[in-house]
Parts: sequence; structure tokens; C-alpha cells
Amino acid sequence: MLNIALFGAPGAGKGTQSSRLIEKCKLTYISTGEILREEIKKSTELGLEAQKTIEAGKLVSDDIIVKIIEKIVKENLDGKGFLYDGFPRTVAQAEALESILEKHGIKMNAFICLDVPFDVCMERLLNRARTSGRSDDNEETIKKRLVEYENKTAPVADFYRKHGSFISVEGVGTEEEIFERIVSSLKGCV
Ligand code: AP5
Ligand code: MG
Repeated sequence: MLNIALFGAPGAGKGTQSSRLIEKCKLTYISTGEILREEIKKSTELGLEAQKTIEAGKLVSDDIIVKIIEKIVKENLDGKGFLYDGFPRTVAQAEALESILEKHGIKMNAFICLDVPFDVCMERLLNRARTSGRSDDNEETIKKRLVEYENKTAPVADFYRKHGSFISVEGVGTEEEIFERIVSSLKGCV
């Protein structure tokens, strides 16, 4: 069973490359951002709570996120594996994921960090803002998301460097070029 995480700043291309990778590897896709946006759409209690946090460009609490992940992993252990997009996003989430995987006798095979400068991320997200309808796609909130990434999420890269599954991929270029880099970085895994 394969476990792959796509990691990177807001706008690094996690969602874009995830679609290609799940097509190729047939993994169960877990995007915590997408799950939260679905909850908001359905106006659930969780959605209403998460909405304020997302619109403020902050991270939703680790407890909520870890519960969501634990449930999905447990329900899909008969599949080929998992592709995590936008998770783990704090060191606490990484530690929790490690213990969930360990409990099921599986491990993180590849933690792929898409390396994209913040100015390119900003440009991509401002471009996406014109059509996405995402309430966090505006200049003020994007800036806050990048600060939150720098403070709370970037340290997760060091966690996986020590873990041994860290792979850095140059995330600037065409979508096709980046996908080829990801696939070749996974040689031996997929
Ligand atoms: P989330 O949905 O994960 O958003 P994000 O990390 O801010 O990242 P984005 O989805 O904006 O960017 P992406 O890297 O997926 O890039 P994309 O492929 O879309 O999280 C949203 C919020 O939910 C968080 O702020 C937080 O509040 C909460 N949340 C989610 N997970 C959480 C967690 N684990 N813990 C706590 N809170 C959590 O590409 C961006 C744009 O660029 C697109 O328009 C795309 O078409 C374009 N593009 C992609 N690749 C290229 C390329 N190579 N060249 C040119 N343009 C490109
Ligand atoms: Mg995304």
C-alpha cells in the first residue's frame, strides 16, 4: 500500500498535480481543503466553524483534521493507498499521521515538496481568484495563508527530511513538466 503526500505553499500546484497522480496510481485522494469546502457548502457545524478560519487565512485545528483523516484511512484500507493533498500541515498533524499509519502497518513512502517561490504562488492564486469562487482567494487572505504556511507548515518538511521520505521537486514550469518530475522522483515507488 502506497502513501504519498503532496506538500507545498498555497498555489504550489498540489491540487493540479494530485489529479494527474491519482489518475496514474489509482490512490484514494484525501484533500483536507476540499473536504472542508464540501462541509462549508453543506453548512454543517464543522463547515460553519471552518469557514471563519479559512476566510481568515488560518489553519483549522489539528484535532478536527486528524479525526477526518483517521476515519478516511480506516475506511479505505482495502485500496491501493492514499494521496494526501494539503495534509499534514503542522508537525502535530505529521506525528498523528505517523501513528495512524503505524497502527495499520503502513508508512509514508514519498513526501513530495513542490518548490515554488511565494511570488509565483501569489500570481497563480490571484489569477485563479478570477474564476474560483473561493472565499480565501483574495490578495489579503492569500498573504495571510502564506504567512501561516511559513510559520506552521514549512517545519513539516524537516519532519519528513528526518523521516527519510522527503523528496523536493522544482514546482515552476508547465504542469506537464512538473508531473514528469514527480513521476521520475517516484521511480521505485510507483
Ligand atoms: P487548501 O485547499 O489545501 O489550499 P492551499 O494549501 O492554500 O492551496 P491551494 O489549493 O490554494 O493551492 P494548490 O497548491 O492546491 O494549487 P493548485 O493546484 O490549486 O486549504 C485551504 C484552507 O483550508 C487552508 O488555508 C486552511 O484554512 C484549511 N485547511 C486545509 N487543510 C488543512 C489542514 N491539513 N490543517 C488545517 N487547516 C487546513 O494551483 C493553483 C493555481 O495555479 C490554479 O489556478 C492552477 O491552475 C494554477 N497552476 C497550477 N500549476 C501551474 C503551473 N505549473 N503553471 C501555472 N499555473 C499553474
Ligand atoms: Mg489545492
